[in-house]
Amino acid sequence: MLLKLAVLLFVLVRPGASYFNLFLSQAEVRKLMGLQAELFYVREGVINEYAIKFVVPVPAQVHKLHFTWENLAGRPLPYTMSVDISNPSALSSSLNISQAGEIPLGGLQTWALALHCGPYDAEVDLSLRINVSLSRRNTTSLDFRRKKICLKDKSNIGAEEVHVAASGSSSGGQVFYAAIGCACAFIAAVFVLIVAYYVRDKKTRRHRDPLQESRGLSSACSVERGTGVGPAQTFLSPETPPPASATSTSTYRRLDDRPSRELHERIQEITVQRCRVRLLSIEMEGTFGRVYRGSYHEEGASTPRDVLVKTAAEHASQSQVALLLREGLALYGLSHPALLPVLGVSIEDRSAPFLLYPHTGYKNMKRFLLRCKLSSEGPPRALTTQEVVEMALQAAKGVQYLHRKRLVHRDLAARNCVVDDDLRVQITDNALARDLFPQDYHCLGDNENRPIKWLAIESLLNKTFSTASDVWAFGVLLWELTTLAQQPYVEVDAFEMASYLRDGYRLAQPINCPDELFAVMAYCWAMSADERPTFSQLIVCLQDFHTQLTRYV
Ligand SMILES: *[C@@H]1O[C@H](CO)[C@@H](O)[C@H](O)[C@H]1NC(C)=O
Ligand SMILES: *[C@@H]1O[C@H](CO)[C@@H](O)[C@H](O)[C@H]1NC(C)=O
Ligand SMILES: *[C@@H]1O[C@H](CO)[C@@H](O)[C@H](O)[C@H]1NC(C)=O
Repeated sequence: MLLKLAVLLFVLVRPGASYFNLFLSQAEVRKLMGLQAELFYVREGVINEYAIKFVVPVPAQVHKLHFTWENLAGRPLPYTMSVDISNPSALSSSLNISQAGEIPLGGLQTWALALHCGPYDAEVDLSLRINVSLSRRNTTSLDFRRKKICLKDKSNIGAEEVHVAASGSSSGGQVFYAAIGCACAFIAAVFVLIVAYYVRDKKTRRHRDPLQESRGLSSACSVERGTGVGPAQTFLSPETPPPASATSTSTYRRLDDRPSRELHERIQEITVQRCRVRLLSIEMEGTFGRVYRGSYHEEGASTPRDVLVKTAAEHASQSQVALLLREGLALYGLSHPALLPVLGVSIEDRSAPFLLYPHTGYKNMKRFLLRCKLSSEGPPRALTTQEVVEMALQAAKGVQYLHRKRLVHRDLAARNCVVDDDLRVQITDNALARDLFPQDYHCLGDNENRPIKWLAIESLLNKTFSTASDVWAFGVLLWELTTLAQQPYVEVDAFEMASYLRDGYRLAQPINCPDELFAVMAYCWAMSADERPTFSQLIVCLQDFHTQLTRYV
């Protein structure tokens, strides 16, 4: 089954010895999809059919598409190209190379397709067709499809979210069905992920360094091609590139940082058919993401089960969708009573992924705490210190388990936990958290939206994350539990946080918070990471305190 899917995913064509490469540079991929990678459409003559089939949306603020090619054949390769536009009155185009010519020898050539929008808002499909003659009888035909978004109103430009927010405003309690046709085949838009891990190792590619080739990707490819099976990994590099920001030198990985092969397999393992998912009501809604309650009728099961469905709105950008998937699959495969891993994922052609989570009465913890505080009907449900400690203990055990698996969560907070009526707590991934709790994330001048007020000082300053930075965030989570989800450092500007912390300021002791519990928090916020407790120590502290609390009951 897996193999079949894999074969479906990557139809490889080997046109003999006349090679060329055609790819999008890193800058181009970042511009279009927000990912840090190059995207190869043709690598050494092998066509990535899968990537080519994908219709890439071109945001309103992008007016030029750049392609790079490289002739590896040792002689000029003639090409012809043409552009086909669905609605010529809304969009015109121009190329800065001629429509017929030769892919030059000697290095990379980048060329651009400029897109000129007409005077009105439109979504225009365009198709760029290229024929490259490898020999008199062999021609490689490529057809790149793009969907250009033209917005007349320039004020929307640059804010995809604004554009997205307008789509599909729906009222809460209604019944929603997954209106996606029952095309239950696995047409899979795993595309974004493939791009994400599709990283070009220049040495291996260009010079076919035998040393490099012997370990890993390239040799694996030729074996797989030879036997004609399992080519799924061909385009994937064995490891994700370390993101520039993840400078942590420890052997701990971030939650969503597992090798791409594993990630790719994870997706295949838990793919569910979308027609088996029924959306019932909106649970939470952000600008581009939504959480639905729904039901999932598993194959072979007699009754459907309740699920929560995280998904992105139709017009979410590719990078938002990629992030949703990457973060949503972070906990997959882990099993602990205090963790809520994803149950299934549905990725179908050209629509946003659905992530399914088992729904067994758990609610988002931050919303639960806020409701406890603001409850207008009836008396507020005050949490006792004992309850707070019990909840904290469960969360701590969940993180301890993660750390034993050598994973760092990096975004521990009440918003990324769920709790049920019996106050059982589970830690979840942070997929959509930025969107659903925008007030908890800030950009400090860069493009990175970070949970500034939950970050340890070293994460804030150097973007380093470790088990000790999870401990810091756990301290803030404890503080949220005791304040019923107040915003931390509400009076401090996000830009001031680093100097505020460096000057030794920390969150204040909440009213009604016992000294012992506050001491645990304060211990988590030690300036030096070495001085902070481990989760095992935290669990001992909290357990001791819990014993004290219950001794005389
Ligand atoms: C042309 O295509 C055929 C198969 O269609 C292949 O066997 C042959 O190697 C190709 N020749 C070149 C020069 O690419
Ligand atoms: C590419 O070749 C096919 C036939 O081989 C032809 O129909 C098509 O028009 C060509 N496209 C371009 C852009 O030259
Ligand atoms: C086409 O334009 C792009 C800039 O938009 C430039 O980088 C590229 O070198 C140009 N290519 C040619 C062949 O002129």
